[in-house]
Amino acid sequence: LVASMEEVEQTYIMIKPDGVQRGLVGEIISRFERKGFKLTGLKLFQCPKELAEEHYKDLQSKTFFPKLIDYITSGPVVCMGWEGVGVVASARKLIGATNPLNAEPGTIRGDLAVQTGRNVVHGSDSPDNGKREIVWSSAFELLLDMNETYIRIF
Ligand code: TYD
Repeated sequence: LVASMEEVEQTYIMIKPDGVQRGLVGEIISRFERKGFKLTGLKLFQCPKELAEEHYKDLQSKTFFPKLIDYITSGPVVCMGWEGVGVVASARKLIGATNPLNAEPGTIRGDLAVQTGRNVVHGSDSPDNGKREIVWSSAFELLLDMNETYIRIF
């Protein structure tokens, strides 16, 4: 195996407002736990608009951007850090395709959602974004044991 494939990574997983309102928090956390990844931080959080816009800044030019921000700020989200070898790509597989109608059965979105705009969970799409989004989430003191190494936004 190439060394980089064995690197321990961090990813940011967020249960979106519909997942929280529908009572899917336990179900979603359970899937990551059973897979064998390590939960490094967790918080129930009402996301302010500015942080939502920062989190999704790559999508700023999309027509769905305002609706996406409204949705993410519409109720509490569950913010989590997860750690493990290959966790970034593996979490994306566990989550499934962006459009839940295209997501495979057995994935979170494939089993639990139907609408792209209500797809219950977010997962970082690269190790760099994993780090960036965990830095973002440290604004609300997500990480338990690594907090001091991250910048504080507030
Ligand atoms: P994206 O980063 O492309 O997908 P993913 O969450 O799978 O990484 O998009 C971010 C979120 O934006 C997506 O989860 C739901 C929302 N979205 C829409 O509402 N409409 C769309 O057409 C797309 C592509 C995304």
